[in-house]
Amino acid sequence: MAEVVIVETPDAAGEVAADEIEQLVRSNPRAVLGLATGSTPLTTWRALAARKLDLTQVRGFALDEYVGLPVGHPESYRSVISREVVEPLGLTPSLVRVPADSGPIETAGVDYEAAITAAGGVDLQVLGIGSTGHIGFNEPGSSFASLTRVKTLTEQTRRDNARFFDSPDDVPVHCITQGLGTIMRARHLVLLAFGAGKAAALAGAVEGPVTASLPGSAIQLHARVTVIVDEAAASQLAYADYYRYAWANRLDWEKL
Ligand code: PGA
Repeated sequence: MAEVVIVETPDAAGEVAADEIEQLVRSNPRAVLGLATGSTPLTTWRALAARKLDLTQVRGFALDEYVGLPVGHPESYRSVISREVVEPLGLTPSLVRVPADSGPIETAGVDYEAAITAAGGVDLQVLGIGSTGHIGFNEPGSSFASLTRVKTLTEQTRRDNARFFDSPDDVPVHCITQGLGTIMRARHLVLLAFGAGKAAALAGAVEGPVTASLPGSAIQLHARVTVIVDEAAASQLAYADYYRYAWANRLDWEKL
């Protein structure tokens, strides 16, 4: 079962996630981080930036990217990752990849998988979860074995992400995303979720049946998962009291 940490606020969650990343980077300055975009990881990036660690040797791989936005579009995940992660954390731009950032789209998935493999795999993957239950942009129905590839976004995800664009019609229809199989190869998954709008997807991912209909449920098959959520996102968890009890009683060597 995933370790589930329930905290009061997204800021507190960001600190817990930053603790995990800091511990990794202190033990391996060349660690490979899986980077997520969206609103959810922002408190993590902020907490980490405030620690002023030397992250210049860290390698990074973004989870996903829109297909069809002009190069340099402020909402392309290349731009978002530069603005929200690379610059504030002091990462080295050439060590951070985003899917389809070079070469033709047809081979971008295979390319990206090869680059992750060549880097030795992802040590810690930061994840949000969509209201559809997606992780990365793996929408319902995605194979648990899937690798980086082009996908079609659901209308729900396009509506959810419309807030970042001038008009809902501007949200791309297609994306390229690490697959569930790619994500599952990361050595540690850190999944964050905030707000009541995520409660159903989160409960399904952590406690529901393992099913491609709720792609986030793939995390139940991973040996090392840390789920960090606020009270609202935790509100539909059947075992919330147990998670709180387990966290309060964690052994000294489990504390960061
Ligand atoms: P959000 O998106 O962090 O902007 O809510 C999460 C996701 O879609 O995976």
